[in-house]
Amino acid sequence: MIGVYDSGYGGLTVLRHILARLPERSTCYLGDSGRAPYGGRDVHTILDFAEQAVERLFDEGCQLVVVACHTVSCVGLRHLQQRYAGPGSHRRVLGVAIPGAEVATQTSRGRIGLLATATTVGSGTYITEVAKLGPHTLVSRAAGLLAPLVEEGWEDTPIARDALRRYLADLPGIDTLLLGCTHYPLLANALADVVPEGVSVLDPAPFVAERLADWLQRHPAFDTIDPTPVHRVMCTGNPERFAAHGARFLGRPLPEVETIAEVDGRLAPRDPSEAPTGQVVR
Ligand code: DGL
Repeated sequence: MIGVYDSGYGGLTVLRHILARLPERSTCYLGDSGRAPYGGRDVHTILDFAEQAVERLFDEGCQLVVVACHTVSCVGLRHLQQRYAGPGSHRRVLGVAIPGAEVATQTSRGRIGLLATATTVGSGTYITEVAKLGPHTLVSRAAGLLAPLVEEGWEDTPIARDALRRYLADLPGIDTLLLGCTHYPLLANALADVVPEGVSVLDPAPFVAERLADWLQRHPAFDTIDPTPVHRVMCTGNPERFAAHGARFLGRPLPEVETIAEVDGRLAPRDPSEAPTGQVVR
């Protein structure tokens, strides 16, 4: 079973491509929607949340976890790999930033623009990864309004187009626009209207799925083909809301959404029917 982890709904846009590319694999998605967005959070808070999420997925039986979230991949992937997937470990943690940089340099003629969360941009990870691959340059703009706009369901509205225009004005001369946040593929219609002619808009998710398929072929010990694949979805926060909004990101209805919550520093299963209302004293 492949674990897929994101700060919330957005990673479902990556899961969508993983399911299409690897239909014979079981998956377990963990969306930390109750604590999203991560994009403006302190890095150590993100690392704490990411440790809890990855440990939950390992506890569910995943040996391989794909960190679909760009924010976590850009600040925490190395930490997660060193902590859980060092030499000799039977577990692996993969991210989206290296495949993202690879497909961007394959697509671009020289100047890549990146829209992403403030934490992703502030990490400088995409600049570093692109520089390793050749002479391309990458310019970036933190686009803090875009993920909340998509979560609100306003991705195809004049507000979304206006926000995109303003962000893109800070990325002059690019030939490729890399969508460095899992929410942004839902902005496809708005992007088609406002991106200057000749600029390719790049959602790295299909390439991430392709690279994952290639990696699994080379590392067969980390996951098995399943004759009757199972697809599970877990979230923190409200499961009904997750199911309703998640379908927009996955492009189809979600399986029953299981609830997890932080208990003593770990993410543990929780029965949502036991959620207290009104004043709560512990
Ligand atoms: N999933 C996050 C990412 O791809 C975006 C949303 C957030 O800020 O949590 O960077």
